[in-house]
Amino acid sequence: MARRLPEPFRIKMVEPIHLPSPEHRRAALAAAGWNPFLLWAEDVYIDLLTDSGTGAMSDTQWAGLMRGDESYAGSRSFRRLETTVRELFGYAHTIPTHQGRGAEQILFPELVRRCGSTQPVFISNYHFDTTKAHVELAGARAINLLTADALDTATPTAWKGNFDLRALRETLDALAPGSVAGLIATVTCNSAGGQPVSMDNLRAASAMARERGVPIVIDAARFAENAWFIQQRDPAYAKVPLEQIAREMFSYGDIFTMSAKKDALVNIGGLCCIRDDEALARAVQVRCVPMEGFITYGGLAGRDMEALAIGLREGLDPDYLAYRIAQVAYLGHRLSAAGVPIQTPTGGHAVFVDARRMLPHLAPEQFPAHALACELYLEGGVRAVEIGSLLLGRDPVSGRQEPSPFELLRLTIPRRVYTNDHMDYVAECLIEIQGRAGTVRGLEFEYEPPLLRHFTARLRPLPSPSEDRCAMAGPATSAATFRATQEPASAALSMA
Ligand code: F0G
Repeated sequence: MARRLPEPFRIKMVEPIHLPSPEHRRAALAAAGWNPFLLWAEDVYIDLLTDSGTGAMSDTQWAGLMRGDESYAGSRSFRRLETTVRELFGYAHTIPTHQGRGAEQILFPELVRRCGSTQPVFISNYHFDTTKAHVELAGARAINLLTADALDTATPTAWKGNFDLRALRETLDALAPGSVAGLIATVTCNSAGGQPVSMDNLRAASAMARERGVPIVIDAARFAENAWFIQQRDPAYAKVPLEQIAREMFSYGDIFTMSAKKDALVNIGGLCCIRDDEALARAVQVRCVPMEGFITYGGLAGRDMEALAIGLREGLDPDYLAYRIAQVAYLGHRLSAAGVPIQTPTGGHAVFVDARRMLPHLAPEQFPAHALACELYLEGGVRAVEIGSLLLGRDPVSGRQEPSPFELLRLTIPRRVYTNDHMDYVAECLIEIQGRAGTVRGLEFEYEPPLLRHFTARLRPLPSPSEDRCAMAGPATSAATFRATQEPASAALSMA
């Protein structure tokens, strides 16, 4: 039997971490308004808030920092980055940005302008929250078309990031011609659990968009993890090298935006790359200059671009990816073996605990996954993040809480940072909470910001479940309710 290999690196530098006392944690969480986003990093023991910009760079990347060319215009480091993008993805135009949302803010308004509709929409398997925000800032509406599989956390299926192709066809047919500003393929699909999109699905979705002249944007933050899943799960690609898989994935897009803080293994950086549409590249560059910076640095130092060019290749290294995905699966297996409900199978960058199943006594408006995040911090100083009702927020028109398709707690694993001993510790904390799940209290707002409220909201715990049973009787939003609210065709038209 093949022996499981340990981490494909050894550790050259360490950053001490410290577990604050239970009293300190309680006081810190109260001071943070029961919102882990507002905790100070030194009050956190193991930080699983995000995998974004939190990875460890390699010695080669650190060496690259020293080589960075800080010329304002025409930097050598930019050219190295541009060459890497051409070689890996086959895209002619590279525009660096300060991070993923920088790419979104210079691209989306141009795609909206080009489509010329007064009721523009973007269609995605699932828009990440800042992606949705930039779609809306550009005056368009975001439609998500995940499959029902993705919402059923208990049943493991291979491609929970896929577009619902039938819904995609119906939506494209129902919308007025020219009103779709872009199709956004998010690989892997962060919000559904870091779940992959299959090559067949990507190819089919891309073909539907191309037939109708709709530009295809790949949201490529976790492109390498997606490529790895394709190699592992699709027999047709079992022997195909990862670089070739990535190349084919990108062949189904016209543009890609990338938060390089994930699979490209840098602490800051982003990309907006365009295959061959020179006019579009020029128009995006025009927005880049005032918003991100000159076209050969886009908000990045030369050294950042150098580290990014190196990281793009390291992110596709098969030994690294095997370790990466195995670590996430390891945490997932520890939790599911103990009966903690998680999104199955585990995805690329995180384990998603299904708080709706773990804390059925809490209604969506009591924010079960956020309550679990607070409990996990109190239990063991571990910081994780809610992906559920709190994040989704209210309908901007009606002011009503949007029904969330899921109530998930994301345990996001930074790249090359923690060992499996850290994963064991996190699992033990959650298993402990599982044993007293019925006592976990919901939360209510003390301060609710009008936009992207999860980042800065302040909350307070509700009375314990035994003290207030009636308040918790609200039914959880079912997958069917969610689909009804997402119903594309006619609803999309009337709401636009
Ligand atoms: N697209 C996806 C799929 C993302 O996950 C993110 C960021 C972005 C775009 C925006 O990129 O942060 O570099 O501006 N996701 C982080 C997260 C923040 O925690 O999931 P950015």
